[in-house]
Amino acid sequence: MPNTVLVGAQWGDEGKGKVIDVLTAQADIVVRYQGGSNAGHTVIAEGKKRVLRLIPSGILHEGKTCVIGNGVVMNPLDLIEEIEAMRASGVEPKGRLFISTRTQMVMLYHRALDKAEEAARPAGKKIGTTGRGIGPAYAAKVSRTGLRCGDMLSDRFLDLVREQVEEANAKLRMLKQERRDEGSDIEVPGCVIRDYQLDADEIVGIYAVVKEKLAPYIIDTVPLLHRAKAEGKSILMEGAQGTMLDIDFGTYPFVTSSNPTSGGACIGTGLSPRDIDCVVGVVKAYTTRVGEGPFPTELYNAVDLQDADGKTMAERGNEFGAVTKRPRRTGWYDAVVARYAQQVNGIDYWALTKLDVMDVFPKIKICVAYELDGRRIDYMPSSADELARVKPVYEEMDGWMCETSNITRFEDLPPKARAYVDRLIELSGGKLGILSIGPARESTLRIGL
Ligand code: GDP
Ligand code: IMO
Ligand code: MG
Repeated sequence: MPNTVLVGAQWGDEGKGKVIDVLTAQADIVVRYQGGSNAGHTVIAEGKKRVLRLIPSGILHEGKTCVIGNGVVMNPLDLIEEIEAMRASGVEPKGRLFISTRTQMVMLYHRALDKAEEAARPAGKKIGTTGRGIGPAYAAKVSRTGLRCGDMLSDRFLDLVREQVEEANAKLRMLKQERRDEGSDIEVPGCVIRDYQLDADEIVGIYAVVKEKLAPYIIDTVPLLHRAKAEGKSILMEGAQGTMLDIDFGTYPFVTSSNPTSGGACIGTGLSPRDIDCVVGVVKAYTTRVGEGPFPTELYNAVDLQDADGKTMAERGNEFGAVTKRPRRTGWYDAVVARYAQQVNGIDYWALTKLDVMDVFPKIKICVAYELDGRRIDYMPSSADELARVKPVYEEMDGWMCETSNITRFEDLPPKARAYVDRLIELSGGKLGILSIGPARESTLRIGL
């Protein structure tokens, strides 16, 4: 397989974990390039379901090398939990999982700051973060105060942690004055932060243990990747989140703090743009979003939008966060989003997932353009306020009203399902590479990939 970048084309949860697992069969190395344990990538293989947050979804294929790239913000406590869960289920990461010395760490104080910052935001300005410390960790990276995995190997590591705890406590004292909806403690897994203040000795003690456990996985992964490339090995770059959550191209400020788009794959791995041969975009046959922010085709949100079709999508698609369990908002396929994703990522092939969820609709709508203040537009507005005002322009197609999850050849799709798939690809640009018709590895039709 050529060196491939895999990106989410919508607001995350498109089924990236499943598609990475399928493509890993033809790759030698899988490298995650951004995000952190805000991700939840589901892989169902050999009847077992696993949700990966930091370890690349290729880990379930024996003998494949997995890399956590420098663009990731890695929470060592979450990673240790994930490594132990893998080990308990018979998969040994040691020897084939490597973490870049340049990878920034999400520390307990970043999680505390994430929660305290969200609590201080007024209604309408909340982002609905996953509470995983992602924003504060990337903020530390760009303010040049972050701790990297390479620092864990230094004798000064625990002193650096202590320094950072003092700084975080100063910020938390300010945030405590501004909090609107939380109590006086902040709960993060494994530790309660009483009265918005971290206990430096306790935190340093936690990271002394972490250092021992993770040190064997940390290496400079740039030479590893370039050596592999020189040997003609095939590298798969795994994105998390999705295009519309990108810090630059998404619905700012209702976004994550990294670049899930394909450009992020170079920044987040040390491979160059010339090393990328192919870009695969993962897109659902409808749309979902979790957290706050505009969503033009939204039908259902488990709070105040109760459209029956949207509810059917949520139920049939099991649309709950893989880690946070939060209900996802649902709506029709938005081809403006997909076309924009095709452009900013340079998507060659689509992996279209969850077609089976659409098996029960007599009529299916596709958003082909927007109406903004009475004017039809076919581009993605750059402002979230404008996107919140657009009205979707729909095209309607007949549904196929029969099961697709048992199909084994693309040619056997019911004609109306085939027409729907063809229309989505025609509107979105690029070519169809993979069609997914169920959550398991086997429920995958390979077309052009
Ligand atoms: P990711 O974050 O992009 O990896 O996606 P998630 O794992 O968060 O969410 C995708 C969900 O859809 C998971 O529960 C998958 O098991 C499931 N899934 C993936 N592909 C399909 C499919 O083709 N059909 C159905 N019904 N479920 C799918
Ligand atoms: P995967 O990789 C869906 C959303 C959050 C919130 C916003 C910012 O599984 O597709 P953050 O914690 O990153 O600061 O939250 O981004 N979000 C996701 N939504 N899938 C994800 O990951 C997400 N990761 C973050 O809900 O709206
Ligand atoms: Mg997910």
